[in-house]
Amino acid sequence: MKYNFDSTPDHRKNASYRWGMEDMPEKVIGMGTADLDYYCAPCIQKALVPIAQENCYNYRQHTKEYYDAVTGWYERNYGLKIEKEWLSNVPSTIGAVRMALGIFAKPGDNIIVQTPVFGPLKWAVEGANQNLIENPLKPVEGHYEIDFADFEEKIKKYHPSLYLMVNPHNPTGRVFTKAELERLVDICYENNVKIISDEVHCLVLYGNNKHTPILAVNKKAQEISVQIVSLSKGYNIMSLPHAIITVADPEMRKAWMKQITAYSFGYAVNSFAIAAVTSVMKGEADDWMKELTQYLYQNLQEILEFIKKYDLPLIPYVPEGSFLLWLDCRKAGIGTKHLDKFFMEKAQIHLDDGEENFGSAGEGFVRINFAVTNQNLKEALERIRVSFGK
Ligand SMILES: Cc1ncc(COP(=O)(O)O)c(C=O)c1O
Repeated sequence: MKYNFDSTPDHRKNASYRWGMEDMPEKVIGMGTADLDYYCAPCIQKALVPIAQENCYNYRQHTKEYYDAVTGWYERNYGLKIEKEWLSNVPSTIGAVRMALGIFAKPGDNIIVQTPVFGPLKWAVEGANQNLIENPLKPVEGHYEIDFADFEEKIKKYHPSLYLMVNPHNPTGRVFTKAELERLVDICYENNVKIISDEVHCLVLYGNNKHTPILAVNKKAQEISVQIVSLSKGYNIMSLPHAIITVADPEMRKAWMKQITAYSFGYAVNSFAIAAVTSVMKGEADDWMKELTQYLYQNLQEILEFIKKYDLPLIPYVPEGSFLLWLDCRKAGIGTKHLDKFFMEKAQIHLDDGEENFGSAGEGFVRINFAVTNQNLKEALERIRVSFGK
């Protein structure tokens, strides 16, 4: 391997959310918040250092190089041709979702989502004073499937203005296939429901799983969708805020851009974020991403083998992408509530409780972030084994 994912910065000293939780004892292994422990691709540092050296942070434009990098990235990876005019950016994915909720739905409107649902997306809907309509994902043989009949029935019953799609899905790790997306788009199109597509987890994919951006599904999807992506998850640049929003339909774009202007997000672009994103989207971190994916896959396999080997009472929903493992603990005899407390007290591992972070469909589950060093992973697995008396 060219890159070393076995050594990391000291996250207890860099104000990391995951490792630096207040009152978190020194021994605790942080496996909650969805970021990576690893150093970033070298091209990111190379892009940022000259900016810091110049030490001038004036108002900056999106450069031609930036637009070419973004449009080139979509075309190279997904065969999706987008126009520069379709693009805009805001500081965060959740911020973009919240803006879209405000633009394409009114207070009091219904918004349909697949559950379990990532907490901040739920808060975005609540913050817009809108109602969440749940289309629960169906567990089928250790794998979640979309319940299309329920999706259509709820749409006909509740007339939501928007479908808030999360693809790849957090926390279940599903990467929706093109066929699934076509069905979802058809139902939305026929029932006058627009789509906000949060694609922040599209970068780490295992095996033959392929991500299809919503605008690459078909023409109908282009008429009703807002596509949101950010490199933050896959390239670990959460604190270089930059979500990329693509709106193809002219009417929707007009409404969207009016608010981009209102927030002045097109003007004060973050020079660090633009530089990092340009570098990555030009392909300068492609080999780093390949190695990262291999490392994460190895970590994932190790967890799955360990659970089997020691017959741990945990049922994994094997993710098709991302670095998050959704674990069913309902047969573990540890109850179904506040399971994070069990793992913290018995194993000194900080992870996310399913119900607290992903709503009632997450009761009895936990989500583990396995983007840690392999050494920390091994230690965490040992502690889990001991905590179950195995
Ligand atoms: C589905 C999903 N959307 C958005 C985010 C957060 O993205 P951002 O930090 O760009 O708002 C996360 C973070 O875990 C996520 O899982």
